[in-house]
Amino acid sequence: MSQEKQPYYKAGFRTNSEEHQINDLPVRGEIPRWLQGRLIRNGPGMVEVDKPMRHWFDGLAMLHQFHISDGKVSYRSRYIDCEAYRTAKESGKITYSDFATDPCRSLFQKVQTVFDPAPKITDSAKVNIDQIDGKAFALGEPLMQVEFDPETLESVGVFHYGKKPGNRMTTAHPHQDNGQAYNLVVQYGPVNYYKIYGMVGEVKEVASIPVMEPAYLHSFGMSERYFIIAEFPLVVQSVKLLLRLRPFIENFQWKGNRGTRFFIIDRQTGKLKATIKTEAFFSFHHVNAFENGHELSVDLAAYPDAGIIHEYYLNRLEQKDKELPFGRMERFVFDLDKKQLKERKILSEACIELPHIDYEQYHGQSAYRYVYGCGIHPDNRQEFYNQLVKIDVQTGQHLYWHEPGLYPGEGVFVPYPDRKAEDEGLLLSVVLDVNKGQSFLLVLEAQTMKEKARAYLPHTILFGYHGAFFKQLL
Ligand code: CO
Repeated sequence: MSQEKQPYYKAGFRTNSEEHQINDLPVRGEIPRWLQGRLIRNGPGMVEVDKPMRHWFDGLAMLHQFHISDGKVSYRSRYIDCEAYRTAKESGKITYSDFATDPCRSLFQKVQTVFDPAPKITDSAKVNIDQIDGKAFALGEPLMQVEFDPETLESVGVFHYGKKPGNRMTTAHPHQDNGQAYNLVVQYGPVNYYKIYGMVGEVKEVASIPVMEPAYLHSFGMSERYFIIAEFPLVVQSVKLLLRLRPFIENFQWKGNRGTRFFIIDRQTGKLKATIKTEAFFSFHHVNAFENGHELSVDLAAYPDAGIIHEYYLNRLEQKDKELPFGRMERFVFDLDKKQLKERKILSEACIELPHIDYEQYHGQSAYRYVYGCGIHPDNRQEFYNQLVKIDVQTGQHLYWHEPGLYPGEGVFVPYPDRKAEDEGLLLSVVLDVNKGQSFLLVLEAQTMKEKARAYLPHTILFGYHGAFFKQLL
């Protein structure tokens, strides 16, 4: 592909980042003084080693920290110190398997894997950040989650779910309630399982469901009484994963005629309350789930199928005329007495991905109204995510922030200290400005989605995934 045909936002995908520490970024506008803390973001930092990575979900993890204090912003970035990063630095080669990129292997090595089925899956936890049991974690889908120091970004150690990682994957989207954190683990073997673990204190298996062909699951749902696993028909024969002849995600196959199965699990007993089948669809992100008597509502950012994964290959994203499929907020209402789907509805026509709610106050609450996320502006449809949206799930209306040439990442909501309404707060996002060749921290007023301030870095940052705001001080 010739240079001029590539879209301007390619800087968000193709440049390895360096580690930086910069004090006192230039601020345009005014950052409210009450906002004190650290926005920490996770995502790929190194995407080219001996060869370029192939997919937006590949790469070696880099943490970015925007430290906000008294209206000023300082910035620090650091690679996660893990085996995959160290060996890539030392050997100059990709040595661990990633989401859609494997190390170069000779035919001999491929045959060898049959006899040595332990795959070297990346330990570079690049998907999300969360605070669990008072500790900060970088979270990825392999079963190794890396604790780090939120002040220095130094890696501290690795969290295991009781046993060695083995042939198991997890999600980077744990749930928290009453001091306990839960995560979904998919275990591959002669029998495959979806398992829910409690992660705080002694690691404990809370639920276990055997399945024939496990699905690729990026998140799961939780309401006051239930865990919800939406099993989309993007499934794998686990022997293919154990042999690892292809990169991880390329072993999965879309089997639309299976439909999507919702496993609804009682949180107290770990037993299945209901298994309910719907039409096939796909989603990365559960957004919220809540109960109303015997009804359970499950909200997700949904797609008709798993084609979005294919669209995130970098050679697809770099085509100028491509159009990403829209993720849309959808609600599934289940009647748990009749064990059937009562209603499925689209909550808004607006495109949304990387959805974010005020989890602390409104997760599991039927009164919740607002979902923040990245979207695509209808006037600039043939682009990567180029606006921030705020969807009111009760009215279906949405507000957005969009400026041509700017590409925002996930918006993280931080409530006002004395807020009364759900959306009284700020939305923080890291934005790529292609005209300046710089990224900046954006501060929006969440109620109006109007800009309050931005703080420019002297360089660009790769498009990341998820992050979190750590209030001052841990
Ligand atoms: Co995610």
